[in-house]
Amino acid sequence: MASNHQRDLVRAAAQARRRAVAPYSRFKLGAALLTKTGAVITGANVESASYGLSCCAERVALFQALTSGQRDFVAIALVARAPGGPMPCGGCRQLLAEYAPKAAVWVADSRALRKIREFRVRDLLPAAFLEVPTRK
Ligand code: THU
Repeated sequence: MASNHQRDLVRAAAQARRRAVAPYSRFKLGAALLTKTGAVITGANVESASYGLSCCAERVALFQALTSGQRDFVAIALVARAPGGPMPCGGCRQLLAEYAPKAAVWVADSRALRKIREFRVRDLLPAAFLEVPTRK
Protein backbone atom coordinates (compact mmCIF):
# COMPACT_ATOMS: atom_id res chain seq x y z
CA MET A 1 0.00 0.00 0.00
CA ALA A 2 1.49 3.34 -1.05
CA SER A 3 1.79 6.09 1.60
CA ASN A 4 0.69 9.69 1.06
CA HIS A 5 4.36 10.69 0.79
CA GLN A 6 4.86 8.19 -1.99
CA ARG A 7 1.74 9.19 -3.84
CA ASP A 8 2.53 12.93 -3.60
CA LEU A 9 6.09 12.50 -4.84
CA VAL A 10 5.01 10.23 -7.67
CA ARG A 11 2.43 12.82 -8.66
CA ALA A 12 5.14 15.51 -8.67
CA ALA A 13 7.27 13.31 -10.94
CA ALA A 14 4.31 12.78 -13.26
CA GLN A 15 3.82 16.54 -13.47
CA ALA A 16 7.52 17.09 -14.19
CA ARG A 17 7.39 14.44 -16.90
CA ARG A 18 5.08 16.69 -18.91
CA ARG A 19 7.98 19.09 -19.34
CA ALA A 20 10.36 16.45 -20.76
CA VAL A 21 12.00 17.43 -24.04
CA ALA A 22 12.36 14.09 -25.79
CA PRO A 23 11.76 14.56 -29.53
CA TYR A 24 14.16 11.74 -30.50
CA SER A 25 13.26 8.81 -28.26
CA ARG A 26 9.80 10.13 -27.33
CA PHE A 27 10.44 8.46 -23.99
CA LYS A 28 9.48 11.03 -21.38
CA LEU A 29 10.63 10.55 -17.83
CA GLY A 30 9.88 12.72 -14.81
CA ALA A 31 11.79 12.70 -11.54
CA ALA A 32 11.02 14.24 -8.16
CA LEU A 33 13.41 14.36 -5.21
CA LEU A 34 12.19 14.69 -1.62
CA THR A 35 14.46 16.19 1.04
CA LYS A 36 14.46 15.59 4.79
CA THR A 37 12.83 18.99 5.30
CA GLY A 38 10.03 18.19 2.84
CA ALA A 39 11.28 20.16 -0.17
CA VAL A 40 10.49 18.67 -3.57
CA ILE A 41 12.78 19.28 -6.56
CA THR A 42 11.77 17.98 -9.96
CA GLY A 43 13.35 17.35 -13.35
CA ALA A 44 12.66 15.73 -16.70
CA ASN A 45 14.87 14.35 -19.44
CA VAL A 46 16.18 16.69 -22.13
CA GLU A 47 17.47 15.32 -25.44
CA SER A 48 19.86 16.67 -28.06
CA ALA A 49 20.20 16.05 -31.80
CA SER A 50 23.67 14.91 -30.74
CA TYR A 51 22.07 12.02 -28.84
CA GLY A 52 24.88 11.46 -26.37
CA LEU A 53 24.41 14.92 -24.93
CA SER A 54 20.92 14.10 -23.69
CA CYS A 55 20.41 14.27 -19.96
CA CYS A 56 18.32 11.91 -17.84
CA ALA A 57 15.51 13.22 -15.67
CA GLU A 58 17.21 12.00 -12.48
CA ARG A 59 20.31 14.03 -13.25
CA VAL A 60 18.37 17.14 -14.18
CA ALA A 61 16.54 16.93 -10.84
CA LEU A 62 19.65 16.06 -8.84
CA PHE A 63 21.80 18.83 -10.32
CA GLN A 64 19.03 21.36 -9.81
CA ALA A 65 18.64 20.24 -6.20
CA LEU A 66 22.35 20.23 -5.43
CA THR A 67 22.97 23.64 -6.98
CA SER A 68 20.09 25.13 -5.04
CA GLY A 69 21.71 23.98 -1.83
CA GLN A 70 19.73 20.83 -1.09
CA ARG A 71 21.58 17.85 0.34
CA ASP A 72 19.55 15.42 2.48
CA PHE A 73 17.50 13.36 0.06
CA VAL A 74 15.10 10.79 1.47
CA ALA A 75 13.45 9.64 -1.75
CA ILE A 76 13.28 10.03 -5.49
CA ALA A 77 10.20 9.22 -7.55
CA LEU A 78 10.40 8.29 -11.24
CA VAL A 79 7.51 8.19 -13.67
CA ALA A 80 7.43 7.15 -17.32
CA ARG A 81 5.22 5.17 -19.63
CA ALA A 82 6.98 1.92 -18.83
CA PRO A 83 5.59 -1.34 -17.43
CA GLY A 84 6.14 -1.31 -13.67
CA GLY A 85 7.74 2.16 -13.84
CA PRO A 86 11.17 3.22 -15.12
CA MET A 87 14.36 2.03 -13.47
CA PRO A 88 17.26 4.52 -13.30
CA CYS A 89 20.14 3.95 -15.71
CA GLY A 90 23.58 2.98 -14.49
CA GLY A 91 24.96 6.51 -14.75
CA CYS A 92 22.15 7.93 -12.63
CA ARG A 93 22.59 5.14 -10.10
CA GLN A 94 26.19 6.27 -9.69
CA LEU A 95 25.17 9.87 -9.00
CA LEU A 96 22.37 8.82 -6.67
CA ALA A 97 24.81 6.56 -4.78
CA GLU A 98 27.08 9.58 -4.29
CA TYR A 99 24.53 12.25 -3.43
CA ALA A 100 21.43 10.41 -2.25
CA PRO A 101 22.81 7.17 -0.74
CA LYS A 102 20.02 6.74 1.79
CA ALA A 103 17.18 7.52 -0.59
CA ALA A 104 14.27 5.29 -1.44
CA VAL A 105 13.45 4.99 -5.15
CA TRP A 106 9.74 4.97 -5.96
CA VAL A 107 8.83 4.13 -9.55
CA ALA A 108 5.48 4.13 -11.31
CA ASP A 109 4.06 3.72 -14.77
CA SER A 110 2.41 6.96 -15.91
CA ARG A 111 -0.71 4.91 -16.69
CA ALA A 112 -0.94 3.50 -13.14
CA LEU A 113 0.40 6.12 -10.73
CA ARG A 114 -0.98 4.37 -7.67
CA LYS A 115 0.98 1.20 -8.35
CA ILE A 116 4.32 2.17 -6.83
CA ARG A 117 7.35 -0.11 -6.62
CA GLU A 118 10.00 0.67 -4.04
CA PHE A 119 13.76 0.18 -4.22
CA ARG A 120 16.71 1.64 -2.33
CA VAL A 121 19.65 3.46 -3.93
CA ARG A 122 22.10 1.33 -1.93
CA ASP A 123 20.61 -1.86 -3.40
CA LEU A 124 20.59 -0.56 -6.98
CA LEU A 125 24.36 0.01 -7.06
CA PRO A 126 26.17 -2.29 -4.66
CA ALA A 127 29.88 -1.68 -4.05
CA ALA A 128 29.66 1.75 -5.67
CA PHE A 129 32.72 3.82 -6.53
CA LEU A 130 32.42 6.61 -3.96
CA GLU A 131 35.85 8.05 -3.46
CA VAL A 132 38.80 8.84 -5.69
CA PRO A 133 41.82 7.16 -4.11
CA THR A 134 44.44 9.76 -3.27
CA ARG A 135 48.14 9.43 -4.12
CA LYS A 136 50.50 9.74 -1.18
N1 THU B 1 16.30 8.41 -19.48
C1 THU B 1 16.11 9.03 -18.28
O1 THU B 1 15.67 10.19 -18.23
N2 THU B 1 16.44 8.35 -17.15
C2 THU B 1 16.91 7.07 -17.12
O2 THU B 1 17.25 6.57 -16.06
C3 THU B 1 17.00 6.31 -18.36
C4 THU B 1 16.82 7.08 -19.62
C5 THU B 1 15.99 9.15 -20.71
C6 THU B 1 17.20 9.54 -21.50
C7 THU B 1 16.64 9.65 -22.89
O3 THU B 1 16.14 10.97 -23.07
C8 THU B 1 15.47 8.69 -22.92
O4 THU B 1 15.20 8.37 -21.56
C9 THU B 1 15.72 7.41 -23.69
O5 THU B 1 16.86 6.78 -23.25
